[in-house]
Amino acid sequence: MQRLKIYGKTRISGEISVQGAKNSALPLLSACVLSKGKVTLHNCPRLSDVFAACRILSCLGCSCSFDGNTVTIDSGSISKSYVPDSLMREMRSSIVFLGAILGKMGECSLSFPGGCELGPRPIDMHLSALRQMGVLIREEYGLLHCTCPKGLKGAKISLSFPSVGATENIMLAACLAKGDTFIYNAAREPEIIDLASFLNLCGARISGHGGSVIRITGVKELHGCEYSVMPDRIVACTLLGAAAITEGEITLKHSRPHDIDAVLPVFEQMGCNVYVYDDNIYLNARQKLQAVRTIRTMPYPGFPTDAQAIIMAVLTKAHGTSVIVENIFENRYRQVDELVRMGANIKVEGKVAVIEGVKNLYGANVVATDLRGGAALVIAALAADGETVISNIKLIDRGYEDIEKQLDSVGAKIYRY
Ligand code: EPZ
Repeated sequence: MQRLKIYGKTRISGEISVQGAKNSALPLLSACVLSKGKVTLHNCPRLSDVFAACRILSCLGCSCSFDGNTVTIDSGSISKSYVPDSLMREMRSSIVFLGAILGKMGECSLSFPGGCELGPRPIDMHLSALRQMGVLIREEYGLLHCTCPKGLKGAKISLSFPSVGATENIMLAACLAKGDTFIYNAAREPEIIDLASFLNLCGARISGHGGSVIRITGVKELHGCEYSVMPDRIVACTLLGAAAITEGEITLKHSRPHDIDAVLPVFEQMGCNVYVYDDNIYLNARQKLQAVRTIRTMPYPGFPTDAQAIIMAVLTKAHGTSVIVENIFENRYRQVDELVRMGANIKVEGKVAVIEGVKNLYGANVVATDLRGGAALVIAALAADGETVISNIKLIDRGYEDIEKQLDSVGAKIYRY
Protein backbone atom coordinates (compact mmCIF):
# COMPACT_ATOMS: atom_id res chain seq x y z
CA MET A 1 0.00 0.00 0.00
CA GLN A 2 1.55 3.33 -1.01
CA ARG A 3 2.31 6.11 1.44
CA LEU A 4 3.41 9.75 1.33
CA LYS A 5 6.44 10.86 3.36
CA ILE A 6 6.64 14.61 3.99
CA TYR A 7 9.48 16.53 5.63
CA GLY A 8 7.89 19.63 7.11
CA LYS A 9 8.98 23.24 7.68
CA THR A 10 9.73 23.81 3.98
CA ARG A 11 8.27 27.01 2.52
CA ILE A 12 6.16 26.57 -0.57
CA SER A 13 7.34 28.88 -3.34
CA GLY A 14 6.73 28.83 -7.07
CA GLU A 15 4.03 28.66 -9.72
CA ILE A 16 1.81 25.82 -10.89
CA SER A 17 -1.05 25.25 -13.30
CA VAL A 18 -4.25 24.00 -11.70
CA GLN A 19 -5.38 20.54 -12.82
CA GLY A 20 -8.76 19.88 -14.41
CA ALA A 21 -11.72 19.52 -12.05
CA LYS A 22 -12.64 16.01 -10.88
CA ASN A 23 -16.19 17.13 -10.05
CA SER A 24 -16.67 18.41 -13.57
CA ALA A 25 -14.85 15.64 -15.44
CA LEU A 26 -17.08 12.96 -13.88
CA PRO A 27 -20.45 14.38 -15.03
CA LEU A 28 -18.90 15.33 -18.39
CA LEU A 29 -17.80 11.71 -18.92
CA SER A 30 -21.31 10.57 -18.03
CA ALA A 31 -22.77 13.12 -20.46
CA CYS A 32 -20.73 11.53 -23.30
CA VAL A 33 -23.22 8.62 -23.15
CA LEU A 34 -25.83 10.96 -24.61
CA SER A 35 -23.86 12.06 -27.65
CA LYS A 36 -24.10 10.23 -30.99
CA GLY A 37 -20.62 11.22 -32.06
CA LYS A 38 -17.08 11.39 -30.75
CA VAL A 39 -16.20 13.60 -27.79
CA THR A 40 -12.72 14.92 -27.00
CA LEU A 41 -12.20 16.20 -23.48
CA HIS A 42 -9.03 18.22 -22.80
CA ASN A 43 -7.58 19.11 -19.38
CA CYS A 44 -9.10 15.92 -17.98
CA PRO A 45 -7.33 15.04 -14.72
CA ARG A 46 -5.74 11.56 -14.52
CA LEU A 47 -7.43 10.38 -11.32
CA SER A 48 -8.64 7.04 -10.04
CA ASP A 49 -12.24 8.33 -10.01
CA VAL A 50 -11.90 9.42 -13.66
CA PHE A 51 -10.48 6.03 -14.64
CA ALA A 52 -13.40 4.40 -12.81
CA ALA A 53 -15.83 6.49 -14.85
CA CYS A 54 -14.03 5.40 -18.04
CA ARG A 55 -14.42 1.77 -16.98
CA ILE A 56 -18.16 2.33 -16.70
CA LEU A 57 -18.24 3.86 -20.18
CA SER A 58 -16.33 0.86 -21.57
CA CYS A 59 -18.67 -1.54 -19.78
CA LEU A 60 -21.63 0.18 -21.50
CA GLY A 61 -19.97 -0.42 -24.86
CA CYS A 62 -18.44 3.03 -25.38
CA SER A 63 -14.80 3.43 -26.39
CA CYS A 64 -12.67 5.52 -24.11
CA SER A 65 -8.98 6.34 -24.64
CA PHE A 66 -6.58 8.60 -22.79
CA ASP A 67 -3.66 10.52 -24.25
CA GLY A 68 -2.06 12.59 -21.50
CA ASN A 69 -4.84 14.78 -20.17
CA THR A 70 -6.99 14.36 -23.27
CA VAL A 71 -9.62 11.63 -23.30
CA THR A 72 -11.58 10.62 -26.40
CA ILE A 73 -14.94 8.92 -26.01
CA ASP A 74 -17.12 7.39 -28.71
CA SER A 75 -20.55 6.32 -27.55
CA GLY A 76 -21.66 5.28 -31.03
CA SER A 77 -21.51 1.61 -30.10
CA ILE A 78 -23.16 1.84 -26.69
CA SER A 79 -25.08 -1.38 -26.18
CA LYS A 80 -25.72 -1.85 -22.48
CA SER A 81 -27.74 -0.05 -19.82
CA TYR A 82 -26.49 -2.02 -16.80
CA VAL A 83 -23.65 -0.88 -14.52
CA PRO A 84 -22.29 -3.79 -12.46
CA ASP A 85 -22.11 -3.45 -8.69
CA SER A 86 -18.33 -3.76 -8.71
CA LEU A 87 -18.04 -0.61 -10.83
CA MET A 88 -20.74 1.27 -8.92
CA ARG A 89 -18.94 0.56 -5.65
CA GLU A 90 -15.68 2.02 -6.94
CA MET A 91 -17.15 5.50 -6.86
CA ARG A 92 -20.45 6.56 -5.30
CA SER A 93 -20.79 9.52 -7.66
CA SER A 94 -21.33 6.96 -10.45
CA ILE A 95 -25.01 7.63 -9.76
CA VAL A 96 -24.63 10.54 -12.19
CA PHE A 97 -24.57 7.93 -15.00
CA LEU A 98 -28.20 7.10 -14.24
CA GLY A 99 -29.71 10.15 -15.92
CA ALA A 100 -27.48 9.86 -18.99
CA ILE A 101 -28.08 6.12 -19.52
CA LEU A 102 -31.84 6.63 -19.12
CA GLY A 103 -31.70 9.51 -21.58
CA LYS A 104 -29.89 7.44 -24.18
CA MET A 105 -31.16 3.89 -23.61
CA GLY A 106 -34.58 4.46 -22.01
CA GLU A 107 -33.70 2.08 -19.19
CA CYS A 108 -30.94 1.54 -16.66
CA SER A 109 -30.03 -0.92 -13.92
CA LEU A 110 -27.41 -0.13 -11.35
CA SER A 111 -26.80 -0.76 -7.68
CA PHE A 112 -27.52 1.73 -4.97
CA PRO A 113 -24.34 3.74 -4.54
CA GLY A 114 -23.00 2.97 -1.08
CA GLY A 115 -22.46 5.59 1.57
CA CYS A 116 -18.96 6.94 1.75
CA GLU A 117 -16.52 8.32 4.27
CA LEU A 118 -18.68 11.44 4.60
CA GLY A 119 -21.69 9.55 5.89
CA PRO A 120 -24.83 8.28 4.16
CA ARG A 121 -25.14 9.63 0.63
CA PRO A 122 -28.90 9.40 -0.08
CA ILE A 123 -30.23 9.74 -3.63
CA ASP A 124 -33.89 10.38 -2.78
CA MET A 125 -33.92 13.67 -4.71
CA HIS A 126 -32.42 11.99 -7.79
CA LEU A 127 -35.06 9.23 -7.78
CA SER A 128 -38.02 11.47 -7.01
CA ALA A 129 -37.08 13.81 -9.88
CA LEU A 130 -36.68 10.92 -12.35
CA ARG A 131 -40.06 9.52 -11.30
CA GLN A 132 -41.58 12.91 -12.12
CA MET A 133 -40.05 12.54 -15.61
CA GLY A 134 -41.85 9.23 -16.17
CA VAL A 135 -39.21 6.79 -14.90
CA LEU A 136 -40.49 3.63 -13.20
CA ILE A 137 -38.02 2.58 -10.50
CA ARG A 138 -38.01 -0.83 -8.86
CA GLU A 139 -35.62 -1.34 -5.97
CA GLU A 140 -34.65 -4.96 -5.41
CA TYR A 141 -31.76 -6.42 -3.39
CA GLY A 142 -29.82 -3.15 -3.54
CA LEU A 143 -30.36 -2.85 -7.29
CA LEU A 144 -32.30 -0.06 -9.00
CA HIS A 145 -34.18 -1.19 -12.12
CA CYS A 146 -35.28 1.94 -14.00
CA THR A 147 -37.44 1.96 -17.10
CA CYS A 148 -39.44 4.63 -18.89
CA PRO A 149 -41.98 2.77 -21.05
CA LYS A 150 -43.48 6.00 -22.35
CA GLY A 151 -40.13 7.73 -22.74
CA LEU A 152 -38.74 10.53 -20.62
CA LYS A 153 -40.92 13.60 -20.41
CA GLY A 154 -40.14 17.09 -19.24
CA ALA A 155 -41.29 18.06 -15.74
CA LYS A 156 -41.21 20.93 -13.29
CA ILE A 157 -38.89 19.71 -10.52
CA SER A 158 -38.37 21.55 -7.25
CA LEU A 159 -35.38 20.39 -5.20
CA SER A 160 -35.67 20.58 -1.42
CA PHE A 161 -31.90 21.15 -1.34
CA PRO A 162 -29.70 22.42 -4.21
CA SER A 163 -28.09 18.99 -4.66
CA VAL A 164 -25.21 19.02 -7.16
CA GLY A 165 -25.64 15.39 -8.19
CA ALA A 166 -29.41 15.58 -8.43
CA THR A 167 -29.19 18.73 -10.57
CA GLU A 168 -26.69 16.98 -12.87
CA ASN A 169 -28.78 13.80 -13.15
CA ILE A 170 -31.91 15.77 -14.04
CA MET A 171 -30.06 17.85 -16.65
CA LEU A 172 -28.69 14.67 -18.24
CA ALA A 173 -32.06 12.91 -18.27
CA ALA A 174 -33.84 16.01 -19.62
CA CYS A 175 -31.62 16.71 -22.67
CA LEU A 176 -33.37 14.13 -24.88
CA ALA A 177 -36.71 14.08 -23.04
CA LYS A 178 -39.95 15.22 -24.64
CA GLY A 179 -40.73 18.84 -23.76
CA ASP A 180 -39.33 21.26 -21.21
CA THR A 181 -37.87 20.46 -17.81
CA PHE A 182 -37.48 23.14 -15.15
CA ILE A 183 -35.27 22.61 -12.10
CA TYR A 184 -36.17 24.94 -9.23
CA ASN A 185 -33.63 25.44 -6.43
CA ALA A 186 -30.99 23.97 -8.75
CA ALA A 187 -27.36 23.73 -7.64
CA ARG A 188 -25.35 26.77 -8.83
CA GLU A 189 -21.84 25.29 -8.58
CA PRO A 190 -19.36 26.10 -11.40
CA GLU A 191 -19.37 22.40 -12.29
CA ILE A 192 -23.07 22.72 -13.19
CA ILE A 193 -22.21 25.55 -15.58
CA ASP A 194 -19.42 23.44 -17.07
CA LEU A 195 -21.81 20.54 -17.67
CA ALA A 196 -24.47 22.79 -19.24
CA SER A 197 -21.87 24.47 -21.47
CA PHE A 198 -20.63 21.05 -22.64
CA LEU A 199 -24.15 19.76 -23.30
CA ASN A 200 -25.12 22.92 -25.21
CA LEU A 201 -21.97 22.49 -27.34
CA CYS A 202 -23.30 18.98 -28.14
CA GLY A 203 -26.61 20.50 -29.27
CA ALA A 204 -28.64 20.55 -26.06
CA ARG A 205 -30.87 23.48 -25.18
CA ILE A 206 -30.13 24.47 -21.57
CA SER A 207 -30.52 27.92 -20.04
CA GLY A 208 -30.41 29.46 -16.56
CA HIS A 209 -27.45 27.33 -15.42
CA GLY A 210 -25.49 29.03 -12.66
CA GLY A 211 -28.77 30.36 -11.29
CA SER A 212 -31.45 28.64 -9.19
CA VAL A 213 -33.80 27.88 -12.09
CA ILE A 214 -32.49 25.81 -14.98
CA ARG A 215 -34.58 25.13 -18.10
CA ILE A 216 -33.81 22.21 -20.40
CA THR A 217 -35.73 21.87 -23.65
CA GLY A 218 -35.53 18.30 -24.96
CA VAL A 219 -33.94 17.79 -28.41
CA LYS A 220 -33.85 14.80 -30.75
CA GLU A 221 -30.17 13.96 -30.43
CA LEU A 222 -26.81 15.24 -29.30
CA HIS A 223 -23.66 15.21 -31.45
CA GLY A 224 -20.03 15.02 -30.34
CA CYS A 225 -17.79 17.96 -29.52
CA GLU A 226 -14.37 19.02 -28.27
CA TYR A 227 -14.30 20.57 -24.81
CA SER A 228 -11.88 21.54 -22.05
CA VAL A 229 -12.63 20.66 -18.42
CA MET A 230 -12.70 23.63 -16.04
CA PRO A 231 -9.87 24.01 -13.51
CA ASP A 232 -10.36 22.32 -10.14
CA ARG A 233 -11.36 25.00 -7.63
CA ILE A 234 -10.74 22.74 -4.62
CA VAL A 235 -7.26 21.78 -5.80
CA ALA A 236 -6.68 25.55 -6.16
CA CYS A 237 -7.72 26.04 -2.51
CA THR A 238 -5.43 23.18 -1.49
CA LEU A 239 -2.38 24.68 -3.21
CA LEU A 240 -3.12 28.11 -1.71
CA GLY A 241 -3.44 26.45 1.70
CA ALA A 242 -0.04 24.81 1.28
CA ALA A 243 1.56 28.20 0.63
CA ALA A 244 -0.34 29.88 3.49
CA ILE A 245 0.54 27.36 6.21
CA THR A 246 4.25 27.35 5.25
CA GLU A 247 4.36 31.19 5.17
CA GLY A 248 5.38 30.88 1.55
CA GLU A 249 4.08 32.16 -1.75
CA ILE A 250 2.47 30.64 -4.82
CA THR A 251 1.12 31.62 -8.22
CA LEU A 252 -1.72 29.49 -9.57
CA LYS A 253 -1.99 29.60 -13.35
CA HIS A 254 -5.00 28.50 -15.43
CA SER A 255 -7.22 28.77 -12.36
CA ARG A 256 -10.59 30.48 -12.30
CA PRO A 257 -10.34 32.89 -9.34
CA HIS A 258 -14.05 33.72 -9.28
CA ASP A 259 -14.90 30.08 -8.62
CA ILE A 260 -13.42 30.53 -5.13
CA ASP A 261 -14.71 34.01 -4.35
CA ALA A 262 -15.96 32.63 -1.02
CA VAL A 263 -12.55 31.24 -0.03
CA LEU A 264 -10.04 33.91 -1.07
CA PRO A 265 -11.28 36.41 1.58
CA VAL A 266 -10.66 33.76 4.27
CA PHE A 267 -6.99 33.66 3.27
CA GLU A 268 -6.93 37.47 3.46
CA GLN A 269 -8.55 37.40 6.92
CA MET A 270 -5.73 35.06 7.97
CA GLY A 271 -3.28 37.79 6.92
CA CYS A 272 -2.27 36.49 3.49
CA ASN A 273 -1.82 38.83 0.55
CA VAL A 274 -3.92 37.65 -2.40
CA TYR A 275 -3.78 39.12 -5.92
CA VAL A 276 -6.00 38.00 -8.80
CA TYR A 277 -5.12 38.80 -12.40
CA ASP A 278 -6.59 37.16 -15.52
CA ASP A 279 -6.84 33.43 -14.73
CA ASN A 280 -4.07 33.58 -12.13
CA ILE A 281 -4.06 33.80 -8.36
CA TYR A 282 -0.99 34.96 -6.41
CA LEU A 283 -0.82 34.42 -2.64
CA ASN A 284 1.92 35.14 -0.15
CA ALA A 285 1.88 34.64 3.60
CA ARG A 286 4.64 36.86 4.86
CA GLN A 287 3.36 37.02 8.40
CA LYS A 288 2.03 34.77 11.15
CA LEU A 289 -1.45 33.56 10.26
CA GLN A 290 -4.38 34.92 12.24
CA ALA A 291 -7.52 32.97 13.21
CA VAL A 292 -10.77 33.71 11.39
CA ARG A 293 -14.11 34.11 13.10
CA THR A 294 -16.69 31.67 11.80
CA ILE A 295 -16.71 29.73 8.54
CA ARG A 296 -20.01 28.11 7.57
CA THR A 297 -20.06 25.66 4.65
CA MET A 298 -22.96 26.34 2.29
CA PRO A 299 -24.09 25.48 -1.23
CA TYR A 300 -22.45 27.59 -3.93
CA PRO A 301 -21.78 30.54 -3.92
CA GLY A 302 -21.24 30.01 -0.18
CA PHE A 303 -18.08 28.56 1.35
CA PRO A 304 -17.54 25.11 -0.27
CA THR A 305 -17.74 22.06 1.99
CA ASP A 306 -14.90 20.49 -0.01
CA ALA A 307 -12.54 23.24 1.18
CA GLN A 308 -13.51 22.81 4.85
CA ALA A 309 -10.87 20.25 5.84
CA ILE A 310 -8.22 22.10 3.86
CA ILE A 311 -8.85 25.44 5.55
CA MET A 312 -9.14 23.70 8.93
CA ALA A 313 -5.62 22.36 8.46
CA VAL A 314 -4.29 25.85 7.74
CA LEU A 315 -6.13 27.28 10.76
CA THR A 316 -4.43 24.81 13.12
CA LYS A 317 -1.38 27.10 12.90
CA ALA A 318 -3.31 30.41 12.92
CA HIS A 319 -2.96 32.52 16.05
CA GLY A 320 -6.25 32.59 18.00
CA THR A 321 -9.54 30.70 17.89
CA SER A 322 -11.36 29.83 14.66
CA VAL A 323 -14.78 28.21 14.30
CA ILE A 324 -16.06 26.08 11.42
CA VAL A 325 -19.68 24.96 10.96
CA GLU A 326 -20.14 22.04 8.49
CA ASN A 327 -23.69 22.33 7.16
CA ILE A 328 -23.55 20.03 4.15
CA PHE A 329 -22.34 16.59 5.24
CA GLU A 330 -23.00 14.72 8.46
CA ASN A 331 -19.57 13.26 8.96
CA ARG A 332 -17.00 15.57 7.49
CA TYR A 333 -14.69 16.05 10.50
CA ARG A 334 -12.94 12.68 10.26
CA GLN A 335 -9.61 14.43 9.63
CA VAL A 336 -9.76 16.02 13.10
CA ASP A 337 -8.39 13.04 15.06
CA GLU A 338 -5.48 12.73 12.65
CA LEU A 339 -4.71 16.47 12.83
CA VAL A 340 -4.81 16.23 16.65
CA ARG A 341 -2.23 13.43 16.45
CA MET A 342 0.01 16.02 14.79
CA GLY A 343 -0.46 18.42 17.70
CA ALA A 344 -3.47 20.40 16.49
CA ASN A 345 -5.93 21.68 19.08
CA ILE A 346 -9.43 21.05 17.66
CA LYS A 347 -12.68 20.34 19.50
CA VAL A 348 -15.76 19.08 17.63
CA GLU A 349 -19.32 19.40 18.91
CA GLY A 350 -21.84 18.18 16.31
CA LYS A 351 -21.55 20.42 13.24
CA VAL A 352 -19.16 22.83 14.97
CA ALA A 353 -15.37 22.57 15.11
CA VAL A 354 -13.35 24.96 17.28
CA ILE A 355 -9.71 25.32 16.27
CA GLU A 356 -7.18 26.86 18.70
CA GLY A 357 -4.04 27.78 16.80
CA VAL A 358 -0.86 26.11 18.07
CA LYS A 359 2.76 27.20 17.77
CA ASN A 360 3.90 23.88 16.36
CA LEU A 361 2.58 20.82 14.63
CA TYR A 362 4.65 17.63 14.81
CA GLY A 363 5.31 15.01 12.18
CA ALA A 364 3.43 11.75 12.85
CA ASN A 365 2.13 8.59 11.21
CA VAL A 366 -1.41 9.45 10.10
CA VAL A 367 -4.12 7.90 7.95
CA ALA A 368 -6.15 9.62 5.22
CA THR A 369 -9.82 9.29 6.20
CA ASP A 370 -11.36 10.67 3.00
CA LEU A 371 -10.31 12.64 -0.07
CA ARG A 372 -10.24 16.17 1.33
CA GLY A 373 -9.35 15.02 4.84
CA GLY A 374 -6.29 13.38 3.33
CA ALA A 375 -5.36 16.61 1.57
CA ALA A 376 -5.70 18.39 4.91
CA LEU A 377 -3.10 16.04 6.41
CA VAL A 378 -0.71 16.84 3.56
CA ILE A 379 -1.09 20.54 4.25
CA ALA A 380 -0.52 20.12 7.99
CA ALA A 381 2.53 17.92 7.32
CA LEU A 382 4.13 20.64 5.18
CA ALA A 383 4.25 22.89 8.26
CA ALA A 384 4.95 20.23 10.90
CA ASP A 385 8.26 19.75 12.72
CA GLY A 386 9.87 16.58 11.37
CA GLU A 387 8.61 13.77 9.20
CA THR A 388 5.02 12.76 8.53
CA VAL A 389 3.93 9.52 6.89
CA ILE A 390 0.41 9.45 5.46
CA SER A 391 -1.13 6.09 4.58
CA ASN A 392 -4.35 5.18 2.75
CA ILE A 393 -3.38 7.75 0.12
CA LYS A 394 -5.50 6.07 -2.55
CA LEU A 395 -8.24 8.29 -1.14
CA ILE A 396 -6.14 11.37 -1.99
CA ASP A 397 -5.41 10.01 -5.47
CA ARG A 398 -9.15 10.07 -6.15
CA GLY A 399 -9.03 13.85 -6.51
CA TYR A 400 -5.40 14.99 -6.82
CA GLU A 401 -3.29 14.12 -9.86
CA ASP A 402 0.17 13.08 -8.56
CA ILE A 403 -0.12 15.30 -5.49
CA GLU A 404 3.51 14.70 -4.59
CA LYS A 405 4.70 15.93 -8.00
CA GLN A 406 2.49 19.00 -7.80
CA LEU A 407 3.81 20.01 -4.37
CA ASP A 408 7.40 19.01 -5.17
CA SER A 409 7.28 21.44 -8.11
CA VAL A 410 6.70 24.32 -5.67
CA GLY A 411 9.35 23.32 -3.16
CA ALA A 412 7.81 20.69 -0.87
CA LYS A 413 9.89 17.75 0.38
CA ILE A 414 7.32 15.04 -0.34
CA TYR A 415 7.83 11.47 -1.58
CA ARG A 416 5.53 8.57 -2.51
CA TYR A 417 6.81 5.10 -1.59
C1 EPZ B 1 -20.96 16.72 -5.04
O1 EPZ B 1 -21.43 15.60 -4.30
C2 EPZ B 1 -19.44 16.61 -5.05
N1 EPZ B 1 -19.05 15.35 -5.70
C3 EPZ B 1 -18.92 16.62 -3.62
O2 EPZ B 1 -17.50 16.60 -3.69
C4 EPZ B 1 -19.35 17.93 -2.97
O3 EPZ B 1 -18.93 17.93 -1.62
C5 EPZ B 1 -20.88 18.05 -3.02
O4 EPZ B 1 -21.32 17.96 -4.40
C6 EPZ B 1 -21.38 19.36 -2.45
O5 EPZ B 1 -20.79 20.42 -3.15
C7 EPZ B 1 -19.04 15.30 -7.05
O6 EPZ B 1 -19.36 16.26 -7.74
C8 EPZ B 1 -18.58 14.02 -7.66
P1 EPZ B 1 -24.99 16.89 -3.08
P2 EPZ B 1 -23.02 15.25 -4.29
O7 EPZ B 1 -25.96 16.03 -3.81
O8 EPZ B 1 -23.59 15.53 -5.62
C9 EPZ B 1 -27.73 15.41 0.54
C10 EPZ B 1 -15.33 15.86 -3.17
O9 EPZ B 1 -14.68 15.90 -2.12
N2 EPZ B 1 -28.55 14.74 -0.48
O10 EPZ B 1 -24.95 18.35 -3.36
O11 EPZ B 1 -23.18 13.91 -3.72
C11 EPZ B 1 -26.36 14.75 0.70
O12 EPZ B 1 -26.42 13.65 1.58
C12 EPZ B 1 -16.80 15.47 -3.13
O13 EPZ B 1 -14.89 16.16 -4.30
C13 EPZ B 1 -29.73 14.15 -0.11
O14 EPZ B 1 -30.11 14.16 1.06
O15 EPZ B 1 -23.52 16.33 -3.23
C14 EPZ B 1 -25.51 15.88 1.26
O16 EPZ B 1 -25.72 15.95 2.66
C15 EPZ B 1 -17.27 15.10 -1.73
N3 EPZ B 1 -30.49 13.52 -1.05
C16 EPZ B 1 -26.10 17.12 0.59
O17 EPZ B 1 -27.40 16.74 0.11
C17 EPZ B 1 -30.11 13.47 -2.38
O18 EPZ B 1 -30.86 12.90 -3.21
C18 EPZ B 1 -25.26 17.63 -0.58
O19 EPZ B 1 -25.21 16.60 -1.50
C19 EPZ B 1 -28.89 14.08 -2.74
C20 EPZ B 1 -28.13 14.71 -1.78
